[in-house]
Amino acid sequence: MKQSFNAYAKEDEKGIAAHTRNDRSFHVKVDTLLGLQWGDEGKGKIVDVLTPDYDIVARFQGGPNAGHTLEFEGQKYVLRSIPSGIFQGGKINIIGNGVVLDPALFKAEVEDLEASGHNLSDRLYISRKAHLILPTHRLLDQAYESQKGCNKIGTTGKGIGPAYTDKTGRNGLRIGDLEYNFTEKYAQAIARHKEMLRQMDFEYDLTDLEKEWWKGIETIKRFRLIDSDHFINKTLSEGKKILAEGAQGTMLDIDFGSYPFVTSSNTICAGACTGLGVAPAKIGEVYGIFKAYCTRVGSGPFPTELFDETGQKIRDLGCEYGSVTGRPRRCGWIDLVALRYAIMIDGVTRLIMMKSDVMDSFDTIKACVAYEINGKEIEDFPFEINESVKPLYVELPGWKTDMTKMQSEDEFPEEFNAYLSFIEETLGVNIHLVSVGPDREQTIIRYTE
Ligand code: GDP
Ligand code: IMO
Ligand code: MG
Repeated sequence: MKQSFNAYAKEDEKGIAAHTRNDRSFHVKVDTLLGLQWGDEGKGKIVDVLTPDYDIVARFQGGPNAGHTLEFEGQKYVLRSIPSGIFQGGKINIIGNGVVLDPALFKAEVEDLEASGHNLSDRLYISRKAHLILPTHRLLDQAYESQKGCNKIGTTGKGIGPAYTDKTGRNGLRIGDLEYNFTEKYAQAIARHKEMLRQMDFEYDLTDLEKEWWKGIETIKRFRLIDSDHFINKTLSEGKKILAEGAQGTMLDIDFGSYPFVTSSNTICAGACTGLGVAPAKIGEVYGIFKAYCTRVGSGPFPTELFDETGQKIRDLGCEYGSVTGRPRRCGWIDLVALRYAIMIDGVTRLIMMKSDVMDSFDTIKACVAYEINGKEIEDFPFEINESVKPLYVELPGWKTDMTKMQSEDEFPEEFNAYLSFIEETLGVNIHLVSVGPDREQTIIRYTE
């Protein structure tokens, strides 16, 4: 039997996975996987690794601002709106109601995957309640960014903010609207956006964008459009297991992230409840994923950012360039103050440490354990992060060993074990998985329970 990464997935004497038995259905919950930093922690890789233990993988928020990378059998894939469980055969993947979907980018993503031999149509379902990103949302995103000038957010430019603004402003168009008077609703929304763009003196050409967008609508119609709230709750009651895949990271959450330099959705665990229609009591394991260091793309505070050759070394060794935009990611030491905050907000039950191998050649590694603000030491993540916030570090010995080919925790160098223990003690949660390279196989389970 292939090594299972999920404690729930133990098989009984007849080889039936416990979670598929009816008598266990009462206990079956939705597990969530969430980024704990500023995104790009490696969520795509780990969702793919965990998928064999689940029946369904569902994205619950965000949109094509996400870029989730998976590597296996010498191939590399970057997913934007399609859940990362799509490559593990036979599993249903759902684009949930909390997601904003751009038809043109969705079409490109589907075509890329189909060209590489992956048939999606029978196992990718889309929620009728997911909102559509209109071609003008992308233009509005650009217009707002140029209006902000040097205070710009540094968005991915995919129209995420304007699409969620229309959702909360009760002006959004949903996937389900495609089934009722859609052209009329679309025309009204576009006219309203054009007026907004005119008021901002923003110049644009909509022709090609709209053409691609409408082709994308035809692609969407090829898929099964579902009432995902009912579907998910029904399959849960049948004892099926669901993994909710987060996008972005807790520090980019609209409520709890480094506002206003955040994305426009709830990236936290509670976002899985609203983004899938799952009651809070039905949330099970909460996997919190973080890198052995820290990165950020776009503007906004980043207390442990390194501007020197160490920062550049992390960028080079970790290939820290955006999977969607190609932008160089800002790099720095691990920030345990921010991580502790994220763990508190998300209720993390299991930690997953990524990109440990990137630290393989460092003599010493720093970990930020507190901030100093105006001469005072602070361990709780503060309301505002500005220039007066100074990270306070503990310096730990590096392990100076190539970990990329390791297969089990028994091979871990002593210094690496000490690094793991230090993080676990500071954060109060066990590290359940360790990633030592981008490939699916470069993942090591730790038996800590
Ligand atoms: P996501 O958005 O959270 O899914 O993360 P991204 O895919 O944007 O960024 C993570 C990057 O790190 C990708 O290029 C992955 O292939 C790569 N990666 C994931 N895990 C590891 C690891 O353990 N070591 C190394 N060196 N690279 C990794
Ligand atoms: P994944 O899922 C890293 C950042 C942008 C910007 C801010 C707002 O791959 O981890 P938006 O386009 O959402 O309005 O941009 O959020 N951002 C991400 N950073 N990873 C992501 O996704 C991100 N999605 C958005 O860089 O700072
Ligand atoms: Mg990413």
